[in-house]
Amino acid sequence: MVTTPEGTEFDVVVIGGGPGGYATALYGASAGLSVAVVEKDKVGGTCLHRGCVPAKELLETASVVRTVAGAKEFGVQAGQPAVDFTISQGRKQKVVDQLHRGLSGLMKGRGITTFVGTGTLSGGGRVEVSGPEGTDEIAGRHVVLASGSVPRTIQGFEVDGKFVLSSDEVLCLDELPASVAVIGGGAIGCEFASMLCDLGSQVTVLELLPTFLTGCDADVVGVVARSFRKRGIAVHTGVSVHGHSSNGSGTTVSFGDNESVSVDAVVVAVGRRPLTEGLLADGTGVVVAERGFVGVDEHMRTGAERVWAVGDVVDTPQLAHVAFAEGIVAIKDILGEAVVPVDYARVPWCIYCHPEVAFAGLTESAAREAGIDVLVKQDPFGGNSRARIIGETDGLVKVVAERGSDGRAGRILGVHMVGPWVTEQIGQGYLAVNWEATPEEVGQFLQPHPSLSEAFGETILALTGRGLHISS
Ligand code: NAI
Repeated sequence: MVTTPEGTEFDVVVIGGGPGGYATALYGASAGLSVAVVEKDKVGGTCLHRGCVPAKELLETASVVRTVAGAKEFGVQAGQPAVDFTISQGRKQKVVDQLHRGLSGLMKGRGITTFVGTGTLSGGGRVEVSGPEGTDEIAGRHVVLASGSVPRTIQGFEVDGKFVLSSDEVLCLDELPASVAVIGGGAIGCEFASMLCDLGSQVTVLELLPTFLTGCDADVVGVVARSFRKRGIAVHTGVSVHGHSSNGSGTTVSFGDNESVSVDAVVVAVGRRPLTEGLLADGTGVVVAERGFVGVDEHMRTGAERVWAVGDVVDTPQLAHVAFAEGIVAIKDILGEAVVPVDYARVPWCIYCHPEVAFAGLTESAAREAGIDVLVKQDPFGGNSRARIIGETDGLVKVVAERGSDGRAGRILGVHMVGPWVTEQIGQGYLAVNWEATPEEVGQFLQPHPSLSEAFGETILALTGRGLHISS
């Protein structure tokens, strides 16, 4: 066993270098703490290497295909687009590599020490690092667990990299499959369905629940469903998948009531599970709950002395920006500063399928189910000048507000968007919801014209009882 020099004790040792881990490390180092990160692969984690970043980069390729295909409407003769997927993959990898170099440099520049290997908490602030060159032991006054998650699998659809793919394999495909079945109509399933369809694959989505994009507002789901239908994506909801049988060049998936679909590949996107294998030696006191998540309180404390946990390994929304926020909470708690816990019910959600989806706060149905009397307004992008100009009018902005005792709209509870670039527009909706602002207050602020963000302003004005373009 190799050990770090005697007396070497970091203020914080972080296990895992994904968004949860690197945010913890960067924030801790900014606050003057000495920080070590243990990472078995590359810093950046799932988000940078196998998730958000490569997925959104390939979705951008899909967007370019749509733009070129629609160019003649603008009088631009570009012909039918053809995708050279090797070049697409090359560009994606270049973006990932650039960001990886940037992150590595940033961490180094901040004085963060990175250990390559698998980190195991062995108690008392000691972390064993099993790397390519043997085993090392490092010590920290505080330890933050940020080991992340891996794709969930389902029985009968074991990932083989050929016929059955998880998100990890889809993002590294050499060639585009002519046809795919996507199991799971959540965020990942819909992003892949949209991307693969735009790049030329025939796509079928198989979702267990009665609706897809569960958790999104019903009107928003309706817009995505219409767009998917128009583009030829077959969505089957309320169906179980029973298994698949391959025939050498493709495979047939059986689902529902004696239905089947023959495809080149199956993409399994049924959620992600926390990764805790090898993370904890016996007797650390860290509690791993039933579904494999590490238990934490709102300060991200695990309950074991001087051990915190953040990111996908804890049971909170599996979003990189949530992991960033949790890392900041953990460091503030370690420093003994006042902590504002993350308000999980009001974090922003962004799904980058076409059309994009973004929201923060309660959906209309969730608010009504909670017994809240609400006032709701929505503005379709069809009436928005900028949406007409760019030729992307599918979508809407919907705002849910609490009805005050005077019958007027009070606190804004939820903002829901679907359509062009809404992932870039949700910021002001997020602020409105989290500031518990009212339409009267938000309605004071201007929106630039012509802009897509006017749809939010219009919806807010309508809620004040005096809309400009939409009736109140
Ligand atoms: P998810 O939980 O969002 O969706 C999984 C879907 O699969 C659900 O609709 C579920 O009902 C369905 N499902 C489960 N078992 C099934 C079965 N046997 N047959 C058919 N359908 C089945 O998980 P997803 O999409 O894999 O994403 C994982 C995590 O990553 C989520 O927490 C998500 O929020 C996050 N993520 C966020 C993104 C974003 O914000 N843009 C993008 C991608 C992922």
